[in-house]
Amino acid sequence: GTGRKQYVIANWKMNKNIQETLEFLQQLKEGNGVEVVVCPPAPLLYPAKLYVQGQKKEIQIGAQNVHQEDKGAYTGETAASLLKEIGCSHCIIGHSERRQYAQEDDATVNQKAKQALKRGLTPVICIGETLEQKQQDQTEKVLTKQILGAMDGMDVSQVVFAYEPVWAIGTGESATAAEAQRIHGYIRSVLEYLDVQNAEKVSILYGGSVNENNAQEFASMTDIDGVLVGGASLQVDSFQKIIAVF
Ligand code: G3P
Repeated sequence: GTGRKQYVIANWKMNKNIQETLEFLQQLKEGNGVEVVVCPPAPLLYPAKLYVQGQKKEIQIGAQNVHQEDKGAYTGETAASLLKEIGCSHCIIGHSERRQYAQEDDATVNQKAKQALKRGLTPVICIGETLEQKQQDQTEKVLTKQILGAMDGMDVSQVVFAYEPVWAIGTGESATAAEAQRIHGYIRSVLEYLDVQNAEKVSILYGGSVNENNAQEFASMTDIDGVLVGGASLQVDSFQKIIAVF
């Protein structure tokens, strides 16, 4: 093995209610060495955490977003310190849906990642090119800008990256494992440029139409240290099968 932590993360996005969440968590088994993180909608974080604690299962709960400021007059936002207090371990930052619908840019991602770390949450930083950028051969350029922007003034050893090509999200059309491996290698080379000592230790996850049928192939690639799963994380059986291949 690479010595890197392997992650299987469920990003439920804006799906599931309380009952569905508790049923899912009741059935979900521990990862056996794989870091399993479930990221439900914000109001379900605390009940989810209490439930897995009650079951004494090694399942971590992560947030899908966090605010960049410590506290104050930010109506509708959630502080990193509160996420930490209710037991979250991780926080997804800069998901393409937030970049698209909530105008988050690399500077925002950087601020949010710093804030998450300051309060003890591990940032899972999402990067990825759009279809248009891919077609114009700008993938590496886009990723480099996203990585350097996100990591400004930060220590690479403290974060997790998720490569989510926007064209593969929710489309049923994932990157091929070989394609993803090549890009992950590229991402690691950019991290090496930032910190040659620690780049090898950074877990880089793939996300975008991962399912129980293609997960094994991603898992077999050296620089793919796990997956960030949307649609296929909503069914506990599918999600469990994905965990099993890492
Ligand atoms: O964050 C995970 C996500 O964007 C991928 O979604 O539905 O393509 O697995 P999906």
